[in-house]
Amino acid sequence: MFNNELLLNVTPQAVSKWENGNSLPDTALLPLLGKLLGVSIDRLLTGNNLLAMEQVSPYDKEYEKEEYYWGLQHSVLAEQVVRIMQGDSRLEKRILDIGSGEGRDAIFFAKGDYIVDALELSKPGIEKIKHYSHLTGCNINIIHANMIGYDIIEFYDVVYSMGSLQFLPPEQRRKHFDKYKQHTRTGGINAHLVFVEKPFIEVAPDWQRNEYLYTSGDLAGYYHDWEIIQCEEKIVDCNSASIPHQHAVNYIIAKNHGGSFS
Ligand SMILES: C[S@@+](CC[C@H](N)C(=O)[O-])C[C@H]1O[C@@H](n2cnc3c(N)ncnc32)[C@H](O)[C@@H]1O
Repeated sequence: MFNNELLLNVTPQAVSKWENGNSLPDTALLPLLGKLLGVSIDRLLTGNNLLAMEQVSPYDKEYEKEEYYWGLQHSVLAEQVVRIMQGDSRLEKRILDIGSGEGRDAIFFAKGDYIVDALELSKPGIEKIKHYSHLTGCNINIIHANMIGYDIIEFYDVVYSMGSLQFLPPEQRRKHFDKYKQHTRTGGINAHLVFVEKPFIEVAPDWQRNEYLYTSGDLAGYYHDWEIIQCEEKIVDCNSASIPHQHAVNYIIAKNHGGSFS
């Protein structure tokens, strides 16, 4: 959103904090900031987390194209989730898919009779989800929201994310993971795949300023008091931005067993 740090004479870190709702700009900056954003000072002060809400997804341009950027094939992690949850006796299962993109996994869950809440920031992404769900006759509850600061209302059998939680700034992660856990019913699971930092893997060519790598062990740490069903790291090939590259990823499937290990 900002290429104006220089004009404002502030650091990218300061801007990132405003965008994420962690701090507010100095009042002396408001006139220039309002001018740069094309909004009044009044709106800057009263808008509900204006800086965060007006963010666009780095994938908007790709999602605007007719073809599906991430394809229509669901992920291996989504398949594992469904397999694990088959052992769960609940007839109706509810899942929150955070950063669902164009909906490949959300539709897969819906086909498996899940009630699916698909949370996505990108408007073109949401249009793609609607289109795909219409084609397949699946019903998806779309939540057009920023995962940063989104207040989860429901209780879920599964809280899921596939390659999207790098958009959570590191200092805000614990509170978000705590929220995901608190909104998972006993016996339910959380499943996430995140990108991890490795000295031998170069940063992806399309990596954005507001994406932050995880460290090995972060996910296991957030779920230390749940039963960890699977937690693995691997290197995967990726062709996003049409440039072949690799990612180191860590995925976890953890179960709310209802007790405490501590
Ligand atoms: C790497 S893509 C993965 C998409 C999808 N999970 C999949 O596997 O096909 C990450 C997704 O997170 C979304 N995203 C980025 N920042 C977000 C935010 N703050 N809130 C909600 N979604 C966000 C992007 O628009 C994008 O669709």
